[in-house]
Amino acid sequence: MSGIRRKRETVDTFGIEQDDEKEAQKGAESIGDENEYIDMYDLNYNGCRSCMACKRKGIEEPCKCYWKDGLSPILEKIWKADRLITGAPIYYSQPSGGFRSFLERITFPAMSYNDYSSVFKGKVDVDVFLTMNTPLNGYDQMYKAKMDEYFGPFRFLNGNVRLIPVCDTLQVKDYSKYEMGSFSDEHKKAFQKRHSMIRTSLKSWNLPLRSVIERHEDEEKRSK
Ligand SMILES: Cc1cc2nc3c(=O)[nH]c(=O)nc-3n(C[C@H](O)[C@H](O)[C@H](O)COP(=O)(O)O)c2cc1C
Repeated sequence: MSGIRRKRETVDTFGIEQDDEKEAQKGAESIGDENEYIDMYDLNYNGCRSCMACKRKGIEEPCKCYWKDGLSPILEKIWKADRLITGAPIYYSQPSGGFRSFLERITFPAMSYNDYSSVFKGKVDVDVFLTMNTPLNGYDQMYKAKMDEYFGPFRFLNGNVRLIPVCDTLQVKDYSKYEMGSFSDEHKKAFQKRHSMIRTSLKSWNLPLRSVIERHEDEEKRSK
């Protein structure tokens, strides 16, 4: 599920282009997995409206969101899935508003207000690609601890939660056309190389990207 609110650029940043996406699907299918690509950009939805319908006594399903909008069928699919792979853009050092809205809707019905355990009966592993301008060392110093907290509610889905930083993303393809002087064109272009590695990893459905990116950065440092 792509969590970024602009389409073509996101697809580039995230490393999944239309064809790559099909490749990733083929990779998953080859090991017997069924999967579906969902673009949050296409959905019309709100964050949790605090209607508390999911906390009423005697409801038929313990983990259900009763607010109906474009996200409703997607939430149902995710609660039935084994794994959610998603992307969250980092805006002002936090997940974007659109992503937070999604996180509230998918996790709040799963959380017990009796004892803060999970009422969700299934188990969904969650991988979140965090896309940001900040380089990897900045992520470790400034963001990592906060992100563990922000994305913590995914634990109510009972699976492993993995945050995968995708740093130094390209916000625009050609920096010379924009008033964005605080970014180094050369530094940003290096992302292109990591980008192709991310795509390769996604195609083979192999997700430990952080080690791939770190290795690449080490090589870059050594070659300077
Ligand atoms: C409103 C806004 C705020 C942002 N704030 C941050 C930030 O605090 N830290 C950061 O590393 N990147 C920040 N960025 C850059 C995005 O994280 C980066 O562009 C990332 O690739 C998100 O995907 P997008 O470009 O498709 O929005 C910000 C971008 C926008 C549009």
